[in-house]
Amino acid sequence: MSTSKQILVLGGAGYIGSHTIDLLERSGYSIIVLDNLYSGHKKSLSKNIQFEKNDISKNNLSDISDKYGEISGIIHFASFIEVGESMKDPYKYISNNIDRSTDVMEFMKNRGIRNIVFSSSAAVYGKDYKDKLKESYIKKPINVYGYTKSVVEDLLSFYDEIYGIKSISLRYFNASGASHFKNIGEDHPNETHLIPLIIKTALGLREKIMIYGDDYNTPDGTCIRDYIHVDDLAQAHLLSLEHLINGGDSDVFNLGGSRGYSVKEIIETTQNITNLHVNKEITQRREGDPDILIADYSKIQKKLKWEPKYEVDDIIQTAFNWHKNNPDGFN
Ligand code: UFG
Repeated sequence: MSTSKQILVLGGAGYIGSHTIDLLERSGYSIIVLDNLYSGHKKSLSKNIQFEKNDISKNNLSDISDKYGEISGIIHFASFIEVGESMKDPYKYISNNIDRSTDVMEFMKNRGIRNIVFSSSAAVYGKDYKDKLKESYIKKPINVYGYTKSVVEDLLSFYDEIYGIKSISLRYFNASGASHFKNIGEDHPNETHLIPLIIKTALGLREKIMIYGDDYNTPDGTCIRDYIHVDDLAQAHLLSLEHLINGGDSDVFNLGGSRGYSVKEIIETTQNITNLHVNKEITQRREGDPDILIADYSKIQKKLKWEPKYEVDDIIQTAFNWHKNNPDGFN
């Protein structure tokens, strides 16, 4: 067995998981991935990764623990992530995102695993707040996806109180961009995210980008989001994991860049960076979209010394390079 610390990564073959695992590997950790490949790609992981293709369940997790031995920490990325879909098929989100996470907590309790980093989301905040979002704000999710993340955060707090399981919930704002270190990037089965769709349109792989509403309460009427580079997210996972392994306490952190861009601004920036035209059309609003979501990241900056390194130009440039060089993603 390996002498380096073993980390179990749930949903590790996905977009943020694969970028985080690359960093963990470079930092000397030994990784076990459990992923059912519903939306992940085994090709996004290096050959050294110990890989188990399966769903999350208490039994499957116990089998992994029996097979691999001591696990120093868990990173839990596995969930459905589409805001729009969660408002059309809520049960899919509740049964997967909440129920599977409670299996993870029970497994940790049963096997004495103390540390977990959980993928939460800016979607827990809802739409009532007009300024930069702080972790202390009361959560008011307006879509089922955000609600599932909020519930799991709360359950993790109870598992700390009752069993001493320590967790860091990371509330991602809009994850985007592609690796600076390896040929990996964003490849979702039915892409719904703004930046990859704009880039595919610029590359002629799609006819146009639909702008979901230009009547929001923002300067140009389109929604404002805080886009954060996936390599910056990876760094935050490493810091969070090490904080817990070193005996640190549970916490919740925003992961954003504290800067907002409207949908129209992202389209314009992509056109400027790539020198390509992006066809666009305004259509009706998508259900569950808040006008504006911008992070205040000063808490993680202060407590874990995390700082985002990459600006929006770099996000769009790295995403563009990935899609241009891999028009079929990992296929
Ligand atoms: N948008 C469009 N057209 C598209 C796709 C998106 O106009 O074809 C708009 C959306 O309406 C939204 C913005 O672009 O205003 C960003 O949309 P994304 O789908 O890229 O991202 P979301 O903000 O909806 O959600 C993402 C993640 C969630 C996470 C959230 C946190 O998918 O998991 O960021 O801010 F919770």
